[in-house]
Amino acid sequence: MPLLQAENLSKTYGSKRGISYEALHQFTLTVQQGEFIGIMGPSGSGKTTLLNLLSTIDKPSSGKIIIHGEDVTSFSHHKLAKFRRKEMGFVFQDFNLLETLTIGENILLPLTLNKVKVKEMTPKLHIISKQLGIEDILEKRIMEVSGGQMQRAAIARALIHNPSIIFADEPTGNLDSKASLQVMNTLSHLQKHYETATLMVTHDPFAASFCQKVIFIKDGKLYNEIHQGNNRQTFFEAILNMQSLLGGNIHDLQTVHF
Ligand SMILES: Nc1ncnc2c1ncn2[C@@H]1O[C@H](COP(=O)(O)OP(=O)(O)O)[C@@H](O)[C@H]1O
Ligand SMILES: [Mg+2]
Repeated sequence: MPLLQAENLSKTYGSKRGISYEALHQFTLTVQQGEFIGIMGPSGSGKTTLLNLLSTIDKPSSGKIIIHGEDVTSFSHHKLAKFRRKEMGFVFQDFNLLETLTIGENILLPLTLNKVKVKEMTPKLHIISKQLGIEDILEKRIMEVSGGQMQRAAIARALIHNPSIIFADEPTGNLDSKASLQVMNTLSHLQKHYETATLMVTHDPFAASFCQKVIFIKDGKLYNEIHQGNNRQTFFEAILNMQSLLGGNIHDLQTVHF
């Protein structure tokens, strides 16, 4: 049984003036346990909309989302919130760490919210922060660490409660190429290690080249998908080619990191 199955997802945004816009049209996607999938497409093509629907933050206008065999589109608000806290981890472009907490306290948040006992928390924090190379900055505040360290802390927070799936929206969007490399190395290594499925929206072909599969969206519909095989350099070039085929405003010129 796949981890997640989205069937014929559509999303129409309405406006108060009665103008509506279909951002996603009959989208179907299957995510296997532990799979690392990239989502690419021009600005406005529906990537964030798709991520918000799959992560149950927003509701589809039609279609179904099955996770662990359960139709989550039928869940109550309360049941969804609990489900998200247990089964999902999130990584954002701007890190979304709380300034009033230390790095360590930020990483522990999902466990705090899930009411895990303090004595069970400490070893988990130790292991995950070591795996991300941030064990020396746990006492620091956000303002005292680099962007790359913040994003590694955010990845630790996304993984610490052992979710079955991580949603990442442009995780390298605010990082330089060196920090991007570190973040993508640790993210791809750890999602394999913990067998956590990962869905990552990105504009960056370098970041996307770490995925097992990249799906391309255009105008709210699946345009194409390509698979990594066993050579990341070749995959990177295939992603670049697909991007130029896709056209649209692939913003910012991408730097080549190889
Ligand atoms: N809350 C909203 N209300 C109305 N339109 C929206 C809303 N969110 C997104 N859209 C529109 O839906 C389309 C897809 O948006 P989005 O999913 O954010 O694209 P992407 O993440 O690929 O840039 C865009 O045309 C956008 O303007
Ligand atoms: Mg977006």
